[in-house]
Amino acid sequence: MRIPVIAGNWKLFKTLAESVALVNELKPLVANSQGVEIVVAPVFTALSRVSDAIKGSNIRVAAQDCYWEEEGAFTGEVAPGLLKDAGCSHVIIGHSERRQYFGETDLTVNKKTRAAIAAGLNAIVCVGETLAERESEQTFSVIDSQISGSLAGLATEDFSRVVIAYEPVWAIGTGKTASDAQAQEVHVFIRQLISRQFGQSVADAVRILYGGSVKPDNVKGLMAQPDIDGALVGGASLKAESFAAIATFNA
Ligand code: PGA
Repeated sequence: MRIPVIAGNWKLFKTLAESVALVNELKPLVANSQGVEIVVAPVFTALSRVSDAIKGSNIRVAAQDCYWEEEGAFTGEVAPGLLKDAGCSHVIIGHSERRQYFGETDLTVNKKTRAAIAAGLNAIVCVGETLAERESEQTFSVIDSQISGSLAGLATEDFSRVVIAYEPVWAIGTGKTASDAQAQEVHVFIRQLISRQFGQSVADAVRILYGGSVKPDNVKGLMAQPDIDGALVGGASLKAESFAAIATFNA
């Protein structure tokens, strides 16, 4: 049984006060949710305060990125161990915006993922094709190389700390969701890749989230797909009401 994960990626939004207010508003709305893991990912500066605010609740906190070294002369970077120290249980790695704007590659995603796991964090590893790649029928080859590269060298036991997020780039922030069938097709493909590379039991257990314009009105259809195990939510996670509606999709 794969317990669904609903994760909210707040991206570069919200001050400290706004972050704490959002999570405080969210807490009662999701307090009775059952059988789902709920995660929010504020900006770095709000991690510690949001972690304090969610204590005793069923909400967990993720960072949106990390570095792969534990310490050293790496100006501007944040180590996985420091994210744990700030109260994070999760970290998003390789989001398409990082791949597009900040030079993230499968190699750096792989280093970050290994470092996050080693530090005891759960890594939410993102993959997804661009519109041009989909239109030129490269979706599966792109996903294949992203999955292989990003997860290279992981051991079976590492997968208890890995969640995969399939986020077609053309669906992020555009209001264009992949259809339930389009998403399911890629999720099945990813699970087959994992099975081939890491074995069937790893593939059966790993959660694969869908991301890209997930909203309260399309989450149920997506979650009804057998291989969609949750959602990574951007825009709709910035309001407590819409994120709570998504997180309680099974209520
Ligand atoms: P969106 O973002 O829900 O606003 O499309 C998803 C994401 O980037 O994780």
